[in-house]
Amino acid sequence: MGIRISDFMRTEHELIERKVKDLEAGKITFSELKGVLESHFGLEEKAIFDGCDIETFNQVKRLFWEHKTILGQIGKLKNDLNSTGSMDFSRLKALLIRHKEEEDESFYPMLDEKLIESQKKKILSNLKKMKSSSG
Ligand SMILES: [Fe+2]
Ligand SMILES: [Fe+2]
Repeated sequence: MGIRISDFMRTEHELIERKVKDLEAGKITFSELKGVLESHFGLEEKAIFDGCDIETFNQVKRLFWEHKTILGQIGKLKNDLNSTGSMDFSRLKALLIRHKEEEDESFYPMLDEKLIESQKKKILSNLKKMKSSSG
Protein backbone atom coordinates (compact mmCIF):
# COMPACT_ATOMS: atom_id res chain seq x y z
CA MET A 1 0.00 0.00 0.00
CA GLY A 2 1.80 3.12 -1.23
CA ILE A 3 -0.35 6.22 -1.29
CA ARG A 4 -2.62 6.76 1.70
CA ILE A 5 -5.74 8.92 1.56
CA SER A 6 -6.22 8.17 5.27
CA ASP A 7 -3.00 9.98 6.23
CA PHE A 8 -3.99 13.11 4.33
CA MET A 9 -7.46 13.10 5.87
CA ARG A 10 -6.20 12.43 9.38
CA THR A 11 -4.17 15.63 9.13
CA GLU A 12 -7.28 17.46 7.93
CA HIS A 13 -9.26 16.10 10.87
CA GLU A 14 -6.56 17.22 13.32
CA LEU A 15 -6.94 20.75 11.96
CA ILE A 16 -10.66 20.60 12.66
CA GLU A 17 -10.14 19.25 16.17
CA ARG A 18 -7.91 22.25 16.82
CA LYS A 19 -10.66 24.58 15.56
CA VAL A 20 -13.18 22.94 17.91
CA LYS A 21 -10.78 23.57 20.82
CA ASP A 22 -10.35 27.17 19.61
CA LEU A 23 -14.11 27.61 19.65
CA GLU A 24 -14.36 26.22 23.18
CA ALA A 25 -11.56 28.53 24.27
CA GLY A 26 -13.37 31.49 22.73
CA LYS A 27 -10.62 32.11 20.16
CA ILE A 28 -12.86 31.75 17.11
CA THR A 29 -16.55 32.37 16.52
CA PHE A 30 -19.19 29.78 15.81
CA SER A 31 -19.51 31.15 12.27
CA GLU A 32 -15.82 30.52 11.69
CA LEU A 33 -16.16 26.90 12.77
CA LYS A 34 -19.15 26.58 10.46
CA GLY A 35 -17.03 27.84 7.55
CA VAL A 36 -14.22 25.40 8.36
CA LEU A 37 -16.63 22.46 8.47
CA GLU A 38 -18.39 23.50 5.27
CA SER A 39 -15.14 23.54 3.35
CA HIS A 40 -13.99 20.24 4.88
CA PHE A 41 -17.24 18.51 3.95
CA GLY A 42 -17.08 20.06 0.47
CA LEU A 43 -13.56 18.69 0.07
CA GLU A 44 -14.63 15.17 1.06
CA GLU A 45 -17.76 15.21 -1.05
CA LYS A 46 -16.19 16.56 -4.24
CA ALA A 47 -12.72 15.02 -4.14
CA ILE A 48 -13.64 11.65 -2.60
CA PHE A 49 -17.32 10.71 -2.30
CA ASP A 50 -18.20 11.64 -5.87
CA GLY A 51 -15.67 9.16 -7.22
CA CYS A 52 -16.65 6.21 -5.02
CA ASP A 53 -17.96 3.00 -6.50
CA ILE A 54 -21.02 0.96 -5.64
CA GLU A 55 -19.35 -1.24 -2.97
CA THR A 56 -18.86 1.71 -0.70
CA PHE A 57 -22.12 3.38 -1.68
CA ASN A 58 -24.15 2.85 1.49
CA GLN A 59 -21.38 4.07 3.73
CA VAL A 60 -20.80 7.10 1.50
CA LYS A 61 -24.51 7.86 1.53
CA ARG A 62 -24.58 7.76 5.32
CA LEU A 63 -21.43 9.89 5.72
CA PHE A 64 -22.90 12.39 3.27
CA TRP A 65 -26.16 12.46 5.22
CA GLU A 66 -24.23 13.04 8.45
CA HIS A 67 -22.59 16.11 6.87
CA LYS A 68 -26.07 17.51 6.25
CA THR A 69 -27.18 16.66 9.80
CA ILE A 70 -24.11 18.31 11.31
CA LEU A 71 -24.56 21.49 9.25
CA GLY A 72 -28.28 21.53 10.12
CA GLN A 73 -27.44 21.29 13.83
CA ILE A 74 -24.94 24.11 13.46
CA GLY A 75 -27.68 26.26 11.95
CA LYS A 76 -29.96 25.47 14.89
CA LEU A 77 -27.26 26.22 17.45
CA LYS A 78 -26.53 29.53 15.72
CA ASN A 79 -30.19 30.47 16.14
CA ASP A 80 -30.07 29.48 19.83
CA LEU A 81 -26.98 31.58 20.28
CA ASN A 82 -28.60 34.57 18.59
CA SER A 83 -31.88 34.36 20.47
CA THR A 84 -30.75 33.24 23.94
CA GLY A 85 -27.06 34.16 24.03
CA SER A 86 -26.03 30.60 24.76
CA MET A 87 -26.06 27.14 23.20
CA ASP A 88 -25.30 23.53 24.05
CA PHE A 89 -22.40 22.36 21.90
CA SER A 90 -22.12 18.88 23.44
CA ARG A 91 -24.45 16.95 21.12
CA LEU A 92 -22.93 18.41 18.00
CA LYS A 93 -19.44 17.72 19.32
CA ALA A 94 -20.30 14.07 19.98
CA LEU A 95 -21.70 13.72 16.46
CA LEU A 96 -18.60 15.31 14.95
CA ILE A 97 -16.27 13.01 16.89
CA ARG A 98 -18.20 9.88 15.93
CA HIS A 99 -18.25 10.92 12.27
CA LYS A 100 -14.52 11.68 12.24
CA GLU A 101 -13.71 8.37 13.93
CA GLU A 102 -15.66 6.39 11.39
CA GLU A 103 -13.78 8.13 8.57
CA ASP A 104 -10.36 7.73 10.21
CA GLU A 105 -10.80 4.18 11.45
CA SER A 106 -13.05 2.60 8.86
CA PHE A 107 -13.86 4.53 5.69
CA TYR A 108 -10.49 5.98 4.64
CA PRO A 109 -8.41 2.90 5.54
CA MET A 110 -10.93 0.85 3.52
CA LEU A 111 -10.48 3.14 0.51
CA ASP A 112 -6.68 2.85 0.86
CA GLU A 113 -7.04 -0.90 0.73
CA LYS A 114 -9.58 -1.17 -2.08
CA LEU A 115 -8.57 1.50 -4.56
CA ILE A 116 -5.68 1.01 -6.95
CA GLU A 117 -2.69 3.35 -6.81
CA SER A 118 -3.74 5.40 -9.84
CA GLN A 119 -7.19 6.07 -8.32
CA LYS A 120 -5.66 7.13 -5.02
CA LYS A 121 -3.17 9.32 -6.82
CA LYS A 122 -5.98 11.07 -8.63
CA ILE A 123 -8.01 11.59 -5.43
CA LEU A 124 -4.97 12.97 -3.60
CA SER A 125 -4.15 15.35 -6.41
CA ASN A 126 -7.77 16.58 -6.43
CA LEU A 127 -7.64 17.03 -2.65
CA LYS A 128 -4.46 19.09 -2.92
CA LYS A 129 -5.81 21.14 -5.81
CA MET A 130 -9.00 21.94 -3.91
CA LYS A 131 -7.06 22.77 -0.75
CA SER A 132 -4.79 25.23 -2.54
CA SER A 133 -7.62 26.93 -4.38
CA SER A 134 -9.66 27.39 -1.20
CA GLY A 135 -6.63 29.05 0.44
FE1 LIG B 1 -17.00 13.63 6.61
FE1 LIG C 1 -13.98 14.27 7.56
